[in-house]
Amino acid sequence: MRYEVDFLVIGSGIAGLSYALKVAPYGKVCVLCKGEAAEGSTRYAQGGIAAVMYDSDSFDKHIQDTLVAGDGICDREVVEMTIREAPDRIKELVQYGVNFDMSGAGDRFDLHREGGHSEFRILHHKDNTGAEIERGLLEAVHRHPNIELKEHQFAIDIITQHHLGQRVTKHTPDIECYGVYALDCRTNQIDTYLAKVTLLATGGMGNVYTTTTTPIVSTGDGVAMVHRARGVLSDLEFMQFHPTSLYNPAEKPAFLITEAMRGAGAILKDFNGNEFMQKYDSRLSLAPRDIVARAIDNEMKIAGVDHLYLDARGIGRDGLINGFPTIYAKCLELGINITKDMIPIRPAAHYQCGGIKVDKNGESSIHHLYAAGECSCTGLHGGNRLASNSLLEAVVYAHNAAMSAIERVKTREICHAVPDWNAEGMVLNEEMVLITQTKRELQELMWNYVGIVRSDLRLQRAFDRLNLIFRETEDLYNRSVLTEELSELRNLIACAYLIIKMARARRENVGLHYSIDLVRNGDSRRR
Ligand code: FAD
Ligand code: SIN
Repeated sequence: MRYEVDFLVIGSGIAGLSYALKVAPYGKVCVLCKGEAAEGSTRYAQGGIAAVMYDSDSFDKHIQDTLVAGDGICDREVVEMTIREAPDRIKELVQYGVNFDMSGAGDRFDLHREGGHSEFRILHHKDNTGAEIERGLLEAVHRHPNIELKEHQFAIDIITQHHLGQRVTKHTPDIECYGVYALDCRTNQIDTYLAKVTLLATGGMGNVYTTTTTPIVSTGDGVAMVHRARGVLSDLEFMQFHPTSLYNPAEKPAFLITEAMRGAGAILKDFNGNEFMQKYDSRLSLAPRDIVARAIDNEMKIAGVDHLYLDARGIGRDGLINGFPTIYAKCLELGINITKDMIPIRPAAHYQCGGIKVDKNGESSIHHLYAAGECSCTGLHGGNRLASNSLLEAVVYAHNAAMSAIERVKTREICHAVPDWNAEGMVLNEEMVLITQTKRELQELMWNYVGIVRSDLRLQRAFDRLNLIFRETEDLYNRSVLTEELSELRNLIACAYLIIKMARARRENVGLHYSIDLVRNGDSRRR
């Protein structure tokens, strides 16, 4: 099938939906998502969204906290713009129907605090903020007559001049995006979506690693598509590991224990129940995430254990049951009463700070292709994202991208010369094990060699093993009918390759990139 729209959106999380709502008055919008509409990191977000809403806080403080967490390599102009725009974007979310918890007489937002924040500035909805945002936005999208939302449509590749038979390299100056090819997971047909402008809002790539808090749809598809289309990517060495995912090895994705719990007074403890953060940072359990995750990793390695503890008992029974009902219920299901027991935790891959390089309008290096949300790299996070700044970045850049796309669409025509997908000569791959086992190998090698702490040797080993996995999988791809599983595997391999390549190129320990060789050689800027 061939479809034509003004605005094509890939992804139905906070970035894709808020962009769709903004452009909808100006043309026909189609939103594709590869699973159910609500499935994405957005709905799992617990802590909330950071914004300066009252005079007790200031833009300058939020800017400073973001720059410090980013370890000196954030784009300052982007930081300032994002943080100053935050209150307007929050007001819009409320207008779309999103509820945040209120305090006092119900006329002020109830604000939480998280690691790296010098003030209480996290707007939240209990401990399930993302689910509330996703609900509010999805309802608003369903109400809009110009937006068509299509589930189980897997975008495979961005269409560029390459598909018109022209040679495209990373040096080609004016790469154009004409839309995407997408696999209809219900009919197994590959459809052609032609659009005047396209937005990638495909979320993160946590599934490159064995243990991740991100849902199964987070396989870096947008980043991999832009890589294949020869677009510019940046900062992928900065994978953020959340310090506290619930230790429950069989569970995928790993359940998150929000940092807001530490903001409310919960304390990290070692396997024997002793505090240890004083050895690592004066901000103790509320130090920025990179520092806390490394400290936990180190304590686990020294003690030879596979989890530590978060002691939330000091928050009190009422505070825990009313303030963190989702976590309370989840732990109770597993026999852990958090009002009496410590919570077993370990770090998990959580957020990709890097991604598709975009300018302040969310425009990528490929013309008429925008990116917003976790798949993009705006410069806001630098070497390490400050907690609760990603939902904020997603709404700010969805807005900026929408304002720019509304202008671009006026002068752009659909490219009718694009051919349909050619699957001639392909055969069905009947051995799923070729895909499942390769995926496991990939995740394990990334976890063990390209995780929280890296070294030159580990990166080299990961690269060599990935090379073999890449060749085997490309061979499979070249002779098989394309499926969602095969496409995801190729995308995970591309993302792993990019993470390793950028990690090897980064010759200083900064933010989330930490190599023992750089410490040994005295190249570390700090620590
Ligand atoms: P997502 O919400 O991940 O949505 C991605 C969309 O893209 C999905 O609809 C998916 O189907 C679609 N998609 C992907 N690939 C394809 C494809 N090939 N074809 C078609 N569709 C595709 N951040 C905060 O600021 N505050 C928090 O409190 C917070 N808590 C978090 C808790 C957890 C457990 C996790 C995992 C993350 C948390 N984050 C938090 C990070 C934040 O939730 C995400 O960065 C953000 O929600 C990403 O939004 P998004 O719109 O970019 O992508
Ligand atoms: C959390 O609630 O700890 C996650 C917040 C975030 O990832 O920004």
